[in-house]
Order: sequence, then structure tokens, then C-alpha cells
Amino acid sequence: MSAKRYRAAIVGTGAYVPERILTNHDLERMVETSDEWIYTRTGIRERRIVDDNVATSDLGAEAARRALADAGLEPKDVTLLICATITPDYLFPSTACMIQTKIGAPNTGGFDLSAACAGFVYGLILGGRLVEADPSQTVLVVGAETLTKFTDWTDRSSCILFGDGAGAAVLRACDDGRGLLASEYGVDGSGGDFMKLPAGGSVMPASERTVRERLHYMKIQGRETFKFAVLKMAELVESAVRNSGLTLDDIKLIIPHQVNKRILQAAATRLQIDISKIYCNIERYGNTSAASAAIALDEAARSGLIARGDYIVLVAFGGGLSWSSAVIRW
Ligand code: ACO
Repeated sequence: MSAKRYRAAIVGTGAYVPERILTNHDLERMVETSDEWIYTRTGIRERRIVDDNVATSDLGAEAARRALADAGLEPKDVTLLICATITPDYLFPSTACMIQTKIGAPNTGGFDLSAACAGFVYGLILGGRLVEADPSQTVLVVGAETLTKFTDWTDRSSCILFGDGAGAAVLRACDDGRGLLASEYGVDGSGGDFMKLPAGGSVMPASERTVRERLHYMKIQGRETFKFAVLKMAELVESAVRNSGLTLDDIKLIIPHQVNKRILQAAATRLQIDISKIYCNIERYGNTSAASAAIALDEAARSGLIARGDYIVLVAFGGGLSWSSAVIRW
């Protein structure tokens, strides 16, 4: 008798974004820019921003509660909590620990995963492989960010891009064909300067000088990131689909990290697919890094764009440089 073939399936998703909206017109009053410039260069119209007293773990905890409710599970069922973030509550303790205590999950392990915009998909892959190895596990993967707290509101080339939010997914073993089919990840630290928060780590501990020189805010080299993202996104989708034994025609929806609408359009052209096959919500949220693919996945699932049995590709790339992709049967 052959052993049952378990796969790690996403059995619930959730997302949460703050209520406060910052529009491009609001930004026009803060830096020298225009709604027209921002929209045509990025596809962004508005983004959500947290109040000062809200932390990354607050967003992550709410997304986690919603994902557990969607899965019909309770916090006590979670055995591992992975929080993907580059804007943690603290350098330590981990944001996963903060979320664990906020949702009241007494039986879980937890840690933070730092892979920038690729973090949520990295988390799904890690969690998924754990569930395959031990089908008794229930893994909660959260992508949560408060990027606007690390944004230099005097730098027009970066402050227009980012927003806050969180998304989450619950992974469990299933033997009905659903689940993670193929995955890929990588890093290339030689591109580390393309997107970086220079101060506050061991290379440049926080000091009066770092604050004065605004080095505790994100710095990006937009053009370099743009080129990398276009190439990487198309390459990742192609290899992920190939590794799963499927073709692009089999894929119902590609759910990418929301970095720039022009990047998604350029990737669609390279892949010779219609842009409608690529989920895009950047207009409403901007780039929310590790939260972005998680929020997009939750929206696509709840809006009925993907149904049981559909094949989807999650693909993400960002600071590090880091990248990850996963082919999933929904
Ligand atoms: N409003 C008006 N003008 C602006 C603004 C602004 N907000 N920002 C820059 N400009 C000006 C520049 O000063 C420049 O002027 P100049 O030609 O007189 O020097 C001109 O616009 C063009 O600037 P570029 O930086 O070349 O503009 P580009 O077309 O590359 O668009 C953008 C910039 C939107 C940042 C784009 O490069 C991009 O989306 N990059 C990728 C996104 C990114 O870097 N995300 C970081 C996260 S990493 C990740 O998620 C993968």
C-alpha cells in the first residue's frame, strides 16, 4: 500500500490595511511631484499609512486573525508562526513573538524572516516544506510592514512608492491534490545597495549623526531596481512554471509582488501574456514589501478570481537582492 501524498495547502488567507489613506494629491503638498507623474511612472494613486501608535505586529496580528478565521482554525492550532518583515517592531525580540502574544497562540514556535519584498513567498516555501515533512504542523505565515515609518518624506524619488499593510496565510497538509507544487528562491548580495536602510544596524549604529543625515530612512536606486525587477519577474515565472511541469496556459493567475505597474506590464510583454493574467492592486496600496503578495493573494481569493483546482504563481523580488516564487494548486 502506498503512503498518502501530502502537500502543503493554503487553507485560509487574511489581510489588513490601515484606514488612513495618503493620496498622490496629498503628496503634491509635501514634495515637488504630481499625481500625473506618480501614476504614469508607477501605477500608484494612493497608499495606506499607519498612525504613530500602530506597530507592524498590530497589522500582522489582525491579518493573522482573519486568516485563521478563514481557515476555521483557532490561534491554539498554530504550531509555527513566520513573520516576513523588513520593518520589525524591534531589532529584537522578533515581530513573530509580538504577533504570537497579540493573537494568543500558546502552542507555536516563531521567528522573523528578512527577505524584503520576497519575504512572504519565502515564508510560504519554508512553511510548506515543513508541513510536507511533518503533516501535523499548522504554519501561519504573515507578511507585515510599516514602511512609511522608515520613509524619508523629503525624498520625492522614494516617498511616493511605499505603503503599510499586512497579509497572512495558513498552511496545512492536504491529500486532495491542492498545495505547493514547485518553488524557487535566491539572493544576490552584490545588489544590496539598490535598496537599503543604512543606519541602525551593526555597520552603522544609530547616532546623532545618522539621524541628522537621515540615514535611518530607506534609500533606493529606482532605475537599477526597475531593471532587475523586470528581468527577474519574467525569469522566475518561466522557471517556476517549467519546474511544476505545467505551461503558462495552465496558470489561472500570476500574483506578483506589487512594485510598479510598468514592471508588471513589461513582464507580461516578455512572457507574451495578457496583463489581465497578472493581479495588480498597486493603485490602492503602493509597494508594501513583504505584505504585498500576501494582500494580493487574499484579495484574489476572496474576490473569486481563483477557485479550487486553479493553478497560480506567486512571485516576488526585492531588496537584498532577494527573490522567490511558488506554483500552487488552489
Ligand atoms: N515626482 C516628479 N519627478 C520625480 C519624482 C517625483 N516623485 N521622482 C523623481 N523624479 C524626477 C527625477 O528627479 C528625474 O529628473 P531628472 O531627469 O531631471 O533627473 C526624473 O524624474 C526621472 O527619474 P527616474 O528615477 O529616472 O524615474 P524613473 O522613470 O526610473 O521612475 C521609479 C522612478 C518610479 C522609482 C522607478 O524607477 C521604479 O519604480 N523603480 C522600482 C521601484 C523601486 O525601486 N522600489 C523599491 C523597492 S524594491 C522592490 O520592491 C523591488
